[in-house]
Amino acid sequence: MSEFLEKYGPVALIAGGSEGVGAAYASMLAERGLDLVLVARSADKLEALRSELAQQYPDRRITTIAADLTALGTPELLAERTAGLEIGMLIYNAGANWRNADFLDSDMAYASQLTALNAITPMTLCHHFGALMRERGRGGIILISSLAYMVGKPRTAIYSAAKAFSTTFGEAFWFEMKQHGVDVLTHALGSVDTPFIQRNHPHAYGKGDKPETVARAALESLGNGPVLRAGEGDQFYRVLSGMSRAEAVETMFRAGEMYAD
Ligand SMILES: NC(=O)c1ccc[n+]([C@@H]2O[C@H](COP(=O)([O-])OP(=O)(O)OC[C@H]3O[C@@H](n4cnc5c(N)ncnc54)[C@H](OP(=O)(O)O)[C@@H]3O)[C@@H](O)[C@H]2O)c1
Repeated sequence: MSEFLEKYGPVALIAGGSEGVGAAYASMLAERGLDLVLVARSADKLEALRSELAQQYPDRRITTIAADLTALGTPELLAERTAGLEIGMLIYNAGANWRNADFLDSDMAYASQLTALNAITPMTLCHHFGALMRERGRGGIILISSLAYMVGKPRTAIYSAAKAFSTTFGEAFWFEMKQHGVDVLTHALGSVDTPFIQRNHPHAYGKGDKPETVARAALESLGNGPVLRAGEGDQFYRVLSGMSRAEAVETMFRAGEMYAD
């Protein structure tokens, strides 16, 4: 058995595992010998990926769960459906920003949904699966964040804040878990060419990293937490961190649509 499988196997749960970055993880982890539980809303996309991977890796057991990660009860459903499995790796990839608008022009239902998807549900799943990993004294958790966590981004305030929450949470969790043999890494992505970006921000598509590149980088850095920041765009953020907060927020606002969320 490989060292990777021994430490992070036998099963990986990927929340947001039907396409893009999540699908890249699914393929790489199947290649490394892990069985998979893939979660996303679209049953069709999950089934398409499951059948593609089953052909490529016939020895892997691949389970799909169609569920909305913003819905009340989904974390409990996932706990129930995985009760007989040893989840040694949790990847929380699902996350998005659907609207760019001033905070007061967004309704609170949208704010709650966005916060659930990007901050509350990942934390809830870390609580459940992290406890089981701590008991076993091994495992790995990757939380997908965004470089938008570094500065409050006007017209995207809720998303920026939710990613800051998950990144800060991930940092502290990394420290708490490392003494129990569990690796936690938060990966703050820059622009990535995913189907979501192609559908929702077509002007940004084609300029970003490839899903496979970012998934590989995180798997290679899993033992080197707490935070891995994307290379592309990082220069921009380094410049921002040298500015006063007011200048940084204003610069972010001016950069606007140049950077995907
Ligand atoms: N792409 C970028 O440029 C970029 C930049 C910075 C950060 N990020 C972060 O990277 C992660 C992936 O981003 P992406 O959307 O571009 O890539 P993706 O990996 O192509 O897709 C996101 C996955 O999450 C699932 N998902 C979305 N909302 C969900 C929900 N409510 N319940 C269950 N599953 C859900 C999607 O499937 P369904 O639609 O079928 O549910 C899909 O499988 C996110 O956390 C995002 O914030 C991306």
